[in-house]
Amino acid sequence: MDVLINLSYLLASAMFIIALKRLQSPRTARSGNALGAVGMLLGIIVTLLHRDVVRYEWILLGIVLGSLIGAVMALWVRMTAMPQMVALLNGFGGAASALVAIAEMERLALHHGIAAAPGVLVGTILSSVVIGAVTFTGSVIAFGKLQELISGRPLILPFHHGWNALQAAAIVVLSVLIVLQQQTWSESLLLQLFGVVTAISALLGILLVLPIGGADMPVVISFLNSLSGLAAASTGFVLHNYLLIIAGTLVGASGFILTNIMCVAMNRSLLNVLFGGFGAEVASGVATDRVVRSTTAEDAAVILGYARSVVIVPGYGMAVAQAQHAVKKLATLLQQRGVDVKFAIHPVAGRMPGHMNVLLAEADVPYDLLYEMERINPEFEHTDVALVVGANDVVNPAARKDPTSPLYGMPILDVDRARTVIVLKRSMNPGFAGVENELFYQPNTYMLFGDARQSLEAISEALKSV
Ligand code: TAP
Repeated sequence: MDVLINLSYLLASAMFIIALKRLQSPRTARSGNALGAVGMLLGIIVTLLHRDVVRYEWILLGIVLGSLIGAVMALWVRMTAMPQMVALLNGFGGAASALVAIAEMERLALHHGIAAAPGVLVGTILSSVVIGAVTFTGSVIAFGKLQELISGRPLILPFHHGWNALQAAAIVVLSVLIVLQQQTWSESLLLQLFGVVTAISALLGILLVLPIGGADMPVVISFLNSLSGLAAASTGFVLHNYLLIIAGTLVGASGFILTNIMCVAMNRSLLNVLFGGFGAEVASGVATDRVVRSTTAEDAAVILGYARSVVIVPGYGMAVAQAQHAVKKLATLLQQRGVDVKFAIHPVAGRMPGHMNVLLAEADVPYDLLYEMERINPEFEHTDVALVVGANDVVNPAARKDPTSPLYGMPILDVDRARTVIVLKRSMNPGFAGVENELFYQPNTYMLFGDARQSLEAISEALKSV
């Protein structure tokens, strides 16, 4: 039986790896997701065959309840609420790891005695409970911020980072003491200290996420996702379960890669996101006496209608205005006139990974019209019109030109190099980073002020008579 179980685990692990590979492109992502789910089902079924399982009632109840909650969440949660859902799922993963670790510690105490257990096992149980508890409470706070149950603003207590450092130190010292003294201290003292480590870890998770602004939550969530994977891998060592070790490590690594991609795309370090308090200051690199050229939907329709090539650059404002269908309609109308239309996607446009891809997919914009930053940037200088739909920071040329700007060094979409730029937004207000955008003052830029959806609909209407 053990051979069958391990072979099935190997097969499930291979399915996870192929699934991750297929998740790299929107074209193959659905089948990748399905493959991962089948791998997980295989893992669950095979684990249930394990000889350590004595009774099935509670397990079946858990599977039925969990599947029901999962199905209802998947059906009801709106696309825009995906980050909250992912935060909750990470939290559940962390909680599961912490609960397994607590149960294993109880089991050691009841059956063999903690003193008789290898130090490595006790150390692994401790790491599982610490990472699991931090992930659980941190994810719950992240969920609360995104769901606006608690303020999205950074909440910082006096000496906040000092308290956090103290808690982290207490966790390390107590854990080392538990492992070193497991043969000499009484069982009840060891269990009490284990409880204290668990409680401090839970508190640390809360205090780590509270000072981070709501807009930085996607990075935090993907970091917590990575932690939930590490917690699962650690639990795999506790239970001697190879699948959990492999799957946990894959989640840990892929979550960390995604965190890193987002940090690089924002030109910020993870430490700056976690401890930086970003977005407070407004840099004034742009002289206010410069001219802004505003335009009308009719004029924009003429410029777009007679262009040979148009690159549409969506940003957070497209999500706010729910303008994805209006943008698709305008793109189709332009294509019908023979205009070459492309969409330029910045990795951190919007507020969550893949935000623009998800919205444009919802509006059935074909994948082959979507271009990533590296592919589209060389094309801007040959592009007639760049149409910016509610994007701001990701098209700010200060990132290339102004070393004093907080955005300096952030890779951007080079829309300023297009022959004409049309920007759809409601005002001259800055974006997420709180910095002014000199693109709006360029001689070849026209601002069309208003809600992006209404502006797009007005342009499409006007295009009919061009
Ligand atoms: P932003 O720089 O945030 O700019 C969005 C613009 O949309 C605003 O300037 C706003 O201007 C406009 N807008 C809002 N509602 C609108 C509406 N109804 N109609 C038209 N325009 C509207 O967005 P971006 O360029 O997409 O950049 C994303 C930012 O988020 C980056 O700084 C990035 O680092 C940060 N961030 C992203 C992520 C991920 S993973 N995507 C994670 C964390 C942080 P008005 O108010 O004048 O309309």
